[in-house]
Amino acid sequence: MGFLTCAALAETGYVVLDRHDQQADPVEWTDLEYVGWRSSGITRFAPLASYAGEIECNGFWNHTPPRADRDGVWIPSQVEKAPTLVRRALEPGANVGRCRVIELQPNTYADAIYNLHQDDNNRLNEDGSGWVVRAWFNLTDDPDSLLLLRSDRFDPATEVRLPLHAGSRIIVDTQRFWHAVWHQGPAPRYSLITSWTSGPELDAYIAVNHGDPHPASVSLPAALVEQAQAEMHRRIEERRRLFEAQGIVMEPPAPLS
Ligand SMILES: [Fe+2]
Repeated sequence: MGFLTCAALAETGYVVLDRHDQQADPVEWTDLEYVGWRSSGITRFAPLASYAGEIECNGFWNHTPPRADRDGVWIPSQVEKAPTLVRRALEPGANVGRCRVIELQPNTYADAIYNLHQDDNNRLNEDGSGWVVRAWFNLTDDPDSLLLLRSDRFDPATEVRLPLHAGSRIIVDTQRFWHAVWHQGPAPRYSLITSWTSGPELDAYIAVNHGDPHPASVSLPAALVEQAQAEMHRRIEERRRLFEAQGIVMEPPAPLS
């Protein structure tokens, strides 16, 4: 049968919507309660919806009973502080799984590509239901920071780089792409991240907000990319050796390139 997917994401796997007027919204994310939760980079998270309405960030499949990344339970103390953010997550009418604000400290391009990862949003998702994708709404204005998407983790030629202005809205099949953010700073970056289930509601939301599957990608100097690639491979190799010394196979050997 297969999963129900969004037609708008079929072509490239991501879309950029019209920019939201972020300046018109209250700054709700500074009032939220954050917990340490390491993602890609130095991060904390303020969950708005979680497995059972607790302030925690674990995947729904790691709880008992486990479930797919949907039917997130809103956390009353957080919802009270961020009604606008909750409204935005609910706006499409698509099922919401995990919903949280991420706080990311400034990093380097090399840090970001070392942190590239694929999400696991569709673990336990059942054939015939909607494919879970992710939305990023940038809350702070970080025009020099970039969401990096790679279809091949080690190949910078496959990299798409999307700028993170205040109000930018990007929907990505994060299980398909290796992704991370290069945040240039100087202050932390805040973004609302929501897991949405694909279906006609999400299709309609993307259409009405002019989802663009071919947004402009920012180019970077070749030397910067080359140096960061070398640094990424060096760190992966370093980590592999460290774990190997403890008898743990962490990473496959670095590919020859
Ligand atoms: Fe991710």
